[in-house]
Amino acid sequence: KNIVILISGGGSNMAAIVKTAQQEQWERAYGVRIAAVVSNKADAKGLVFAREHGIATAVLDHKTFESREAFDAALAQAIDQYQPALVVLAGFMRILTPGFVEHYAGRLINIHPSLLPAFTGLHTHQRAIDAGCKFAGVTVHQVTAELDVGPILDQAVVPVLPDDTAQTLAARVLTQEHIIYPRAVRNLVRAL
Ligand code: GRF
Repeated sequence: KNIVILISGGGSNMAAIVKTAQQEQWERAYGVRIAAVVSNKADAKGLVFAREHGIATAVLDHKTFESREAFDAALAQAIDQYQPALVVLAGFMRILTPGFVEHYAGRLINIHPSLLPAFTGLHTHQRAIDAGCKFAGVTVHQVTAELDVGPILDQAVVPVLPDDTAQTLAARVLTQEHIIYPRAVRNLVRAL
């Protein structure tokens, strides 16, 4: 069974999943492999990591498509070449159309850097600080047509410290992301 991971940038969550899959020998243990890493950005640093780890990569530049629907259709076509049992959004900074989400219903997950349902959307760390939150965190959830909503699979909490900036809080949250995302994917993979 194949997993396809979608990224737009550094891909540190993708890298954490790839490393865990190798360390825990998911291919031998569960018959599951990370078949491809796909990005909407040709310069996504995560593509270098994927290639260095022998994982197929593909780039679809959303700017070269006339519409969101046309991009999503091409994206799905590229992904479906790997017949994924699971599609993992990892720092994939695109809002997906309902048609795309429907096509992968039940096998599409995302990681969002807040304790959903609080702070859907962008700039989650600054918003948590501005709101005076004492805790922040990260959520792994099933993707539905509504942005950053969907059945929650796992969460992790971190303290917000008095002198936190969005950057220092983001770094603390990212550490937790790299723990809970591989764990969430493993739990799903074992059930495939
Ligand atoms: C992280 O904040 C993650 O929560 C969000 O995208 C950011 C970068 O992730 N999804 P990555 O390093 O590209 O995995």
